[in-house]
Amino acid sequence: MQKIAVTTLALIFLMACSPPTEKTTEKTTELTVSVSKEQGTSVTSEMDVTKDYHSFANPEQVMVTHIDLDLTANFDEKKLTGTAELTYEKQTPTASQLVLDTRALTITRVTSAGKDISFDLAEADPNLGAALTISLPENGQTIVVEYHTSPSASGAQWLTPAQTAGKKQPFLFTQAQAVHARSFIPLQDSPQVRVTYNATIRTPKELLAVMSAANDPETERDGVYEFNMPQPIPSYLIALAIGDLQFKAMGPRTGVYAEPALLEAAAAEFSDTESMLEVTEKTYGPYSWDRYDLLILPPSFPFGGMENPRLSFITPTVIAGDKSLVSLIAHELAHSWSGNTVTNATWRDLWLNEGFTTYLTYRIMEMIFGTDRYNMEAVLGYQDLQADIASLDPNDQILAIDLRGRNPDDVFSNIPYEKGALFLREIEQKIGRGNFDAFLLQYFEDFAFKSITTDEFISYLDKTLLTNYANELDKKRIEDWIFSPGIPEGAPVPESDAFVNIDTTRSNWLSGSIDANDIVTSNWTVHEWLYFLNNMPKLLTAEQLANLDAAFDLTRSKNNEIAHSWLMIAVKNEYEPAYQRLYSYLTSIGRNKLVKPLYRELAKTPQGKAFAKRAFDEAKPGYHPLTVKANQGFVE
Ligand code: BES
Ligand code: ZN
Repeated sequence: MQKIAVTTLALIFLMACSPPTEKTTEKTTELTVSVSKEQGTSVTSEMDVTKDYHSFANPEQVMVTHIDLDLTANFDEKKLTGTAELTYEKQTPTASQLVLDTRALTITRVTSAGKDISFDLAEADPNLGAALTISLPENGQTIVVEYHTSPSASGAQWLTPAQTAGKKQPFLFTQAQAVHARSFIPLQDSPQVRVTYNATIRTPKELLAVMSAANDPETERDGVYEFNMPQPIPSYLIALAIGDLQFKAMGPRTGVYAEPALLEAAAAEFSDTESMLEVTEKTYGPYSWDRYDLLILPPSFPFGGMENPRLSFITPTVIAGDKSLVSLIAHELAHSWSGNTVTNATWRDLWLNEGFTTYLTYRIMEMIFGTDRYNMEAVLGYQDLQADIASLDPNDQILAIDLRGRNPDDVFSNIPYEKGALFLREIEQKIGRGNFDAFLLQYFEDFAFKSITTDEFISYLDKTLLTNYANELDKKRIEDWIFSPGIPEGAPVPESDAFVNIDTTRSNWLSGSIDANDIVTSNWTVHEWLYFLNNMPKLLTAEQLANLDAAFDLTRSKNNEIAHSWLMIAVKNEYEPAYQRLYSYLTSIGRNKLVKPLYRELAKTPQGKAFAKRAFDEAKPGYHPLTVKANQGFVE
């Protein structure tokens, strides 16, 4: 990213002429002021806030509106091969070229009405892939691209039978967000472009294909599967999975797809999904997507969940046996409103997806599980946010983050999630919950099936809440939340009564006034365990570690979040008895949120790094490309 440093005087002048906080509806460019610990303040070049800096596509000239896919999955070659027929609309009569995004795709032919047409595949950019420029015929509305994917496509993972629960059949899944749809479909890979799609997916006969589209649980398993997504969706929500999958209904509109070995446990764990759907509809308006099903992925899935419409993709690491980690389902479901219906226009605006969704997640969890759990989850989220604010570069603490020249994958943090949610919580507290819910309901309706920038959101606030609650809200403060690092002073601080007791218990144990065996934990929830462990001082004595482990068997915890917190403590304190579990944890789970902090912590000492390298080298063939990329730097 290019930064032009300016003198303090020049900066004062610039800010006086055009304060970065004064934005209007029409304005689409802004000078971003960056704050950096090391370099002081600098001004970056002008940004067009409506432009998607992570796509080569030219939707302002030619817009793709529909895609017909016909793809064959070849598990031996780890390739999808086939055609994408794109229906487009010229936005300007003179437009003659269609520019698509691709990444590591082999394009064999492009045709229009059966005739070859010329195309050019540019050199690849490491973050964005390669632009595919197609010369359009004078008349016509569709072109067909014949192509195949690369075995190392960044948005697809091909698993061998050994890497699945059943061990007998292979598995394929895609993960398109943020900029990986282009690695398995040549398309306009920008959240500003919405398409409907149909697909024919050809697989080995024993396997079932599912997509982010209408799935028929009763479909015949014959190796040819037809899909239709009638609502226009952004490209990052196109998703495909193929495996030995079975379906079990959980409610009239909800069900789960999983490998047979996991199906019953998943259906039991997520049995509240239908109620979650109902309470969310009641508060935020009708669900727009017909069915809501879950797909349980193998443990290498690099995220907790992904909100692929009609079919959220879910990590198996949250099947804990006690519903303790089901806020993930509330989160992916909530995206059906914030994200899938109202969509961030660029990756700078990700907080509009994730912050609203995190806010909704808390609210859904409260409606289903009550206020105690709501408070506990909010405190844990707040602590994650505090940790990020303590460690991230100030520019990366800004909700409307400047991602130009960067790969969105590299900037994943709690900021868009928890800071975004805290901002909305503040508005809720200032104007009252009922009023804020009414606002959200209207917002989801007004922007349904549209993409929205941060700046459009602020203009919308101007016309709505800032007008109707002029005494309660202040535009300057709202801009502070969105454009400044950190958390504004006086922001809400989530609190939990249950955690007060945990603080007392922890202090008593740390001071030696009680032994771990004397702590009554029979009524502790997973959240209380996490709070107990996450707030331990960094260094504990060997005796303290042994005392905790002997009393609570933490090294063998079956809850993946508790195990994670304990293993973090173990690494910081080089607690060797946990290292075998640490090794099996790192080599069996690919979810970045769980493994990355462990690799980062291990990499701080030479012995830790050597251990991390052994685990990484063993795990690498089974890790998703994104997990490899996120962690390999720690072991090099
Ligand atoms: N949409 C995200 C995952 C994502 C975000 C992928 C940005 C790529 C780029 C998904 O909804 C998500 O937020 N998952 C979280 C869930 C958690 C916050 C409950 C995850 O995977 O940890
Ligand atoms: Zn999310």
